Amino acid sequence: MAPILIAVARRVHLMAPILITGLAVLMLASSCAGTKHEVVIKNTWSIVVDDLHTGNKSYNDFQPSEFRLPDGATGAESLAFDRRGEGPYTGVSDGRIFKWVRNKSGANGVWITFAYNANYINLPICKKVSGDETVCGRPLGVQFFHKTGELYIADAYLGLMKVGPRGGMAKVLATEADGVPFTFVNGLDIDQSTGDVYFTDSSTKYQRRNNTQVMFNRDTTGRLLKYDARTRRVTVLKSGLPYPNGVAVSSDQRSVVVAHTWPSQAFTYWFKGPKAGQYELFADLPGYPDNVRRDNNGGYWFALNQEKVGFNPKTHEVTPPPPGTPHLVGIQINSNGTELAVLTAPKGVTLSDVAVRNGMQMWLGSVELDYVGLFDHTMIQ
Ligand SMILES: *[C@@H]1O[C@H](CO)[C@@H](O)[C@H](O)[C@H]1NC(C)=O
Ligand SMILES: *[C@@H]1O[C@H](CO)[C@@H](O)[C@H](O)[C@H]1NC(C)=O
Ligand SMILES: *[C@@H]1O[C@H](CO)[C@@H](O)[C@H](O)[C@H]1NC(C)=O
Ligand SMILES: *[C@@H]1O[C@H](CO)[C@@H](O)[C@H](O)[C@H]1NC(C)=O
Repeated sequence: MAPILIAVARRVHLMAPILITGLAVLMLASSCAGTKHEVVIKNTWSIVVDDLHTGNKSYNDFQPSEFRLPDGATGAESLAFDRRGEGPYTGVSDGRIFKWVRNKSGANGVWITFAYNANYINLPICKKVSGDETVCGRPLGVQFFHKTGELYIADAYLGLMKVGPRGGMAKVLATEADGVPFTFVNGLDIDQSTGDVYFTDSSTKYQRRNNTQVMFNRDTTGRLLKYDARTRRVTVLKSGLPYPNGVAVSSDQRSVVVAHTWPSQAFTYWFKGPKAGQYELFADLPGYPDNVRRDNNGGYWFALNQEKVGFNPKTHEVTPPPPGTPHLVGIQINSNGTELAVLTAPKGVTLSDVAVRNGMQMWLGSVELDYVGLFDHTMIQ
């Protein structure tokens, strides 16, 4: 039990993940019942690739390189790369956007402050690690529009924002849609052909700091939104959604895939073609998704907080997966909704973003960890 307790304590320390309360209940339930679980804790990361022809799986254990965040910052929830391929850029717990700058004359690099919001400059409390995120902001989704080099930011509290290619102070573009204020702005992606920004407001009832309530109360007040690059107006594409989180524009730029943390599903919203305006199930997921990104083959990588657990919404009782169940933190799904690979990690690690680059780099972001991970390997698609 000890390693699990440590993992849980670490999660609590590093800020509320979606299932903290659930895991606490789980611990209580199993100790009260007096049952002894032999839980296998595999202390490695692994990519498990499905061979769709034979049904065989191949395993590849690895240890990611860790790019530690500075100044006590944590929580690189979303990763972005600019048009020159530099980065990653990421939003962190104190409201800033960092950029990883490689040291050309050495093997390493440094994180620099790339962008910040007005409160970071104007309010001294926002320069403290313990600043109130409802005031100091919490950037979650970040992506570039490559034609202009501008970075768009989905800040959980401050709204949809953007900053120019040289960074600096980000400006707020929108804080409401259809007269309903944003409450929990979360995932974001950009149609690179039009500049339109697709993003989510995970709930219109609960803020990010209350994110466990979204799951436990089966909240369905989330919205899928679009910021029109030409009219500069936000429209509601779909409302009444359960925990919409990450979004990814499809590689054919006709639809957007939306990850629903609860109930562990992904949906497709078509914005072009014969199905325009429809919202359709894309895939059932084996865990709780955060961000979703295109892979290099027309499919997607979903970052997972963890594998699914049984949950009773009335009692909030959690049924753990069977002992020895691998700890899932990512899944790759092709454009037809078929699983291609999964990513597993040591217990206690949760992921928010899996960004594959150049056919051999897998960058790993997490809203809970104090580093960004990188795995370099030719098997990554
Ligand atoms: C892959 O699957 C086939 C068919 O099930 C089996 O005969 C073969 O031994 C497997 N190969 C490996 C490397 O496991
Ligand atoms: C870059 O790397 C070189 C060689 O390792 C080192 O001397 C230098 O201090 C580094 N510069 C920075 C800004 O980290
Ligand atoms: C949200 O969290 C804050 C701080 O923990 C708490 O004071 C507030 O009551 C919560 N709101 C809801 C609706 O749960
Ligand atoms: C998706 O399904 C179609 C029809 O079954 C098939 O032709 C296509 O090759 C599949 N695409 C992928 C990426 O598996």
